[in-house]
Amino acid sequence: MSKPRIIVTRKLPFAVEERLKKIFTVSFNASDKPFSNAKLVEAMKMADGVMATLGDNMDAEVMEAGAHGRAKIVANFGVGVNHIDLDAAADHGIIVTNTPDVLTDATADIAMTLMLNVTRRTWEHENTLRRGDWSGFDLVSGLGMSLRGKTLGILGMGRIGQAVATRAYFGFGMKIAYFNRSKIENVKIPGAQAVATIEDLMEMSDVVSLHLPGGADNRHTISRSRLALMKNTAYLVNTARGEVIDETALIEALQQNLIAGAGLDVFENEPEVPQALRDLVNVSLLPHIGSATLETRNAMGMCAIDNLVAYFQGIAPPNKLV
Ligand code: GLV
Repeated sequence: MSKPRIIVTRKLPFAVEERLKKIFTVSFNASDKPFSNAKLVEAMKMADGVMATLGDNMDAEVMEAGAHGRAKIVANFGVGVNHIDLDAAADHGIIVTNTPDVLTDATADIAMTLMLNVTRRTWEHENTLRRGDWSGFDLVSGLGMSLRGKTLGILGMGRIGQAVATRAYFGFGMKIAYFNRSKIENVKIPGAQAVATIEDLMEMSDVVSLHLPGGADNRHTISRSRLALMKNTAYLVNTARGEVIDETALIEALQQNLIAGAGLDVFENEPEVPQALRDLVNVSLLPHIGSATLETRNAMGMCAIDNLVAYFQGIAPPNKLV
């Protein structure tokens, strides 16, 4: 029996490409240049399955191409699927899978990195040193904020939110408050307080960390009016999706020191990051590296392959979303 044909939209870690090659007939993307919509449509027409990722605009037209063509599965390399029209996929009978769990720790680590970077002002200090402007140890300049005893407000207490809360409570002595749309059972963090509204969380937290999925429902959840509720000594951390924050309102809040700072791994219009944000000193900015460790990217790739293998064996893929 001939092997199913898979088209992969981006370059993958070596071990993942090697395993894919053993199981399927694969078209790789050695140049790593993102696919245009026309190329995604073509892939859905030609292949039996497509392995896609963030940045691939998997819209209704692409799903329709699968329905009329060959591909009936999109295996996403990543947990977030805001770039995939899940409703259109369901309407056209296209299965979509993702890679949850395996990137929880790596992403939670980056949330903590950002939290430490902004509260300890590491970017400012390192810049001073690299410029050759460090005049020696002193006791008063560039002081940051300690995390111990401060309140971390987690917005979205799913897997990654809980992993951040665990690190912050057990590792850094923070108090945990959280808001989650649905009730969460079994939060294993002593004293963790579920609050009734996002507004409550914004008002009471010393650091707010965002762990909501992207997509229309959560667009600009962190609005100008919610930013205005934060203490002017508080920090905002985002490792979720850029669109969750009204970026223009955030820039203004930071410029006017309405909040103390922000640590951002994600942006509204990636890879564009507004110059006004890059000009600020009270921010730590990372280029969407939440899951960017070799171990995690390998695990994500293997998870995406497991989903494809299950599908072609005629069993339900373990991480089927629609
Ligand atoms: C990364 O942001 C992912 O969704 O996997």
